Amino acid sequence: MCWLQAGECAADEGADRVSANFGMEDSIEVVLQDCGGILPPSRPHPILSTCTCALLTGLYRLWSLFVIPGFRKVPRNLKVPYLPSSKDQTLNTMKLLEGRTGRLADLGSGDGRLVFAASSAGFQSTGFEINPILVMYARSKACWRGVPSSQATFVKKDFWKTDLSAYNNVTAFLAPGVMAVLGEKLLKELPDNARVIACRFPFPNWPHQLSAGFGLYQTFAYDMSTVRSHLRNVRNTVV
Ligand SMILES: C[S@@+](CC[C@H](N)C(=O)[O-])C[C@H]1O[C@@H](n2cnc3c(N)ncnc32)[C@H](O)[C@@H]1O
Repeated sequence: MCWLQAGECAADEGADRVSANFGMEDSIEVVLQDCGGILPPSRPHPILSTCTCALLTGLYRLWSLFVIPGFRKVPRNLKVPYLPSSKDQTLNTMKLLEGRTGRLADLGSGDGRLVFAASSAGFQSTGFEINPILVMYARSKACWRGVPSSQATFVKKDFWKTDLSAYNNVTAFLAPGVMAVLGEKLLKELPDNARVIACRFPFPNWPHQLSAGFGLYQTFAYDMSTVRSHLRNVRNTVV
């Protein structure tokens, strides 16, 4: 009986509320208030709630300290959090760079694992990373391993604001939402002989030359000259 009454009551109230342009939270509140008489009162213990709140805030602060510092100036739609590439992703990336030499930029170098792999393969590698803690960590790892800065450098810099025209190899393990914007930047800046490796998330509308691995571990290789001539053809066909 109680349930029926509460339901009817909530429905009537709900109709009034909708007409008054109230949101979902208001409707839920009304239902909860109406159920107040039939449901046992649950009052959280004030000390317990305060402790839980403080713990969650502390955990969030700790998480944000490692994952998102330095991001304040990056536009919201271009923010990419830290997620290290797996061993397979690193191996697949390096497979697609076989036979190549020269300078390599890793966009968002994290703890430096791709930069170290590339420098071991003979590339003069630079990691651009916005998170100062990760830059410090990668630099100390380079020091510890005795990797000279001529082979592996870590720069604390926003790669969106970095001119990449001096690099003939670029690696990017970022996020699907930023790949189209990154594609436009690379088209403007990279030389024709450059190769770009996208780890896990391909560039939309770019034809890849090669790929390695499957699923989450798949990496894609793009040669700038091929991408440019493909896009020119597509634009000519459309016009
Ligand atoms: C998915 S992680 C990849 C890390 C590393 N490349 C790897 O393979 O392990 C992306 C990295 O890009 C960094 N990042 C995101 N936006 C950036 C920006 N605008 N400039 C420099 N680094 C950025 C993040 O801090 C994060 O470390």
